[in-house]
Amino acid sequence: MKNDTGKARRRMDELVELISHHDRKYYIEDAPEISDYEYDMLMKELIALEAEHPKLIQPDSPTRRVSGAPLDEFAQVEHKVHMLSLDNCYSVEELKEYDRRVRKWLKEETVEYVVEIKIDGLGIALLYEDGLLSRAATRGDGRVGEDVTANVKTIRSIPLRLNSSSGFSTLEVRGEAYIPVDEFRRMNREREETGLQAFANPRNAAAGSIRQLDPKVAAARPLDAIFYTLSYSAEPAPDTHSGCLDALRDAGLKTSPAVSVFDTIDDVIQYVSSWETKRDRMEYEMDGMVVKVNSIEQQRRLGATAKNPRWAIAYKFPAKQMTTTLLDIQVQVGRTGALTPVAILDPVDIGGVTVSRATLHNEGEIARKDLMIGDRVLVERAGDVIPQVVKPIVEARTGSEQRYQMPALCPACGSETAREEDEAVRRCDNATCPAQIKERLAHFCSRDAMDIEGVGPSLVDVLVDTGLVHDVSELYDLTPEALIGLEGIAEKSSRSIVAAIDASRAKGFERLLFALGIRHVGFTTARDIAFAFTSIEALKSAAVEDLSRVHGVGEVVASSIRRFFYNPANVELIERLKAAGLSVATEGHRSGPLQGKTFVFTGEMRSMTRQEAIGAVEALGGDVGSSVTKSTDFVVVGDSPGSKAQKARKMNKAILSEEEFLTMIGRG
Ligand code: IVH
Repeated sequence: MKNDTGKARRRMDELVELISHHDRKYYIEDAPEISDYEYDMLMKELIALEAEHPKLIQPDSPTRRVSGAPLDEFAQVEHKVHMLSLDNCYSVEELKEYDRRVRKWLKEETVEYVVEIKIDGLGIALLYEDGLLSRAATRGDGRVGEDVTANVKTIRSIPLRLNSSSGFSTLEVRGEAYIPVDEFRRMNREREETGLQAFANPRNAAAGSIRQLDPKVAAARPLDAIFYTLSYSAEPAPDTHSGCLDALRDAGLKTSPAVSVFDTIDDVIQYVSSWETKRDRMEYEMDGMVVKVNSIEQQRRLGATAKNPRWAIAYKFPAKQMTTTLLDIQVQVGRTGALTPVAILDPVDIGGVTVSRATLHNEGEIARKDLMIGDRVLVERAGDVIPQVVKPIVEARTGSEQRYQMPALCPACGSETAREEDEAVRRCDNATCPAQIKERLAHFCSRDAMDIEGVGPSLVDVLVDTGLVHDVSELYDLTPEALIGLEGIAEKSSRSIVAAIDASRAKGFERLLFALGIRHVGFTTARDIAFAFTSIEALKSAAVEDLSRVHGVGEVVASSIRRFFYNPANVELIERLKAAGLSVATEGHRSGPLQGKTFVFTGEMRSMTRQEAIGAVEALGGDVGSSVTKSTDFVVVGDSPGSKAQKARKMNKAILSEEEFLTMIGRG
């Protein structure tokens, strides 16, 4: 028995070390050495051993990344060393002025500067004790932050134990937690599809994820982190900042990818300027560069003001923000009945794009931001998302601004609206509300759903207003004759519209499932569910537990699906769609010329959306992965690609341009 335990302990030690090694290869160095499958097998073996020997579980076991029940609130943490902020500057002149000040303070001619990128995320501080990650905290007010250890542990690029060969065992590091831009876009797309509020920018998404009370939710968010300061160490550390960063890297932490050292401010200026155009191509949102004095001894002599260290300055890139006037607030009714207030703005150019509308999300948001109609407002465009109203310019108020109140009645159908206690959104609950029907129809016909060409929002408006269509099943009763004359439709296009509707009957179960617009069921989830359950009949009788086994389906999604099928009106709708000849089951295993090939997409394509591209690959029997791994066969690189392109190159994967991809799928 004792022997058995000894054997298990040794194997568990070995597995923890192996998995940590592969985590580092995958999440930090972008150069995995084993396949996802082999990695999963190691993890499975460790989980089984830990279940058998719970007493032997190590604190740095990778199985402990997601642990603990949801918290009621975060504990407060006093920082070992105050977390200061950075002084900002916006011009080359100010950088030169800063250099003059540094030289004057130091009374020295020789100053070496380190330049790092400035990621726009959330500042965090990690404490390692005896090599183990023991605490992670947010910056808070700089003196006291929040204990977010459980959530930070879910970030796979953060080692739970420092590399012992680095010589460090007890230290504090500071860095920035962030969500990569393409992950942010994907996440927001999914949120919008499922009726959740989109995040304003990658920084808010990162902050919201780190400050999640439930570590399981944080674990599902695509967080990452980069470290830039060794703020305390019990062991002797290098005497330059760049040396400390190298040491942190040796210890297993991810550091800034572009640390450069310069002797003169002119070289610094040239370098930071070269980044102004590069920033849009980075995988994360950057708001500037940070210039730091490299010598730790000089840093010590320079010291700090109450707020900022004197040895560093942030050179900020021009913000994608402008002020304009909030002319009005209008309400949109979504397909689930959600009422969304929309800001109508005096059109303004922000970084080359004219902005005249911005979402205000919900009434709570309007109150929280203290917005009034007629206000001067600061508007931001970040991470290529829908523009956001940041705040009103309260000082510019004249007294003529007006408070806004959400209408108690639905602006489309006049029914009463209601707001559930635990929901931020007010809804119109009338399932026959024409605004909802229109949204549901438009969603049903959209490209990623049933892809019915010719039936766009304006035709949908007319179809509902004239009473020709009351729900999506009635689309299939439309004849060319009924369409002629509507919206100026001539005979020829009436026939092509009906043909497009006809063709959609065979689009497949997964598209239909997404097209039904079930709350919380986005494109990817619909696809995963369709493959797991293969028919609408099987799905209809699935229990919440069965549903929860599907990747990406949590309790919220599962309950939403159950609720959808509980509603007799929805069951009847599905019967009508079945009777209209729509395919309500998958065709079994996919086959085709791309069978066995796995594609990964990065960047945007000019000729199709990501989801169309995924559909094209799957229609030909291929698979689509979300990250580049050993099993990836082709990486399709579009415009402004993310880190996956670099990874593909590192891993020597076959890289396809958009044109090459189109040729491969027979659309070249
Ligand atoms: S150094 C003692 N370096 O920007 C000062 N900060 O606007 C420590 N940030 O609070 C900060 N990238 O959260 C430093 N390379 C970098 C950074 C960086 C992003 C954040 C950090 C800081 C904020 C100030």
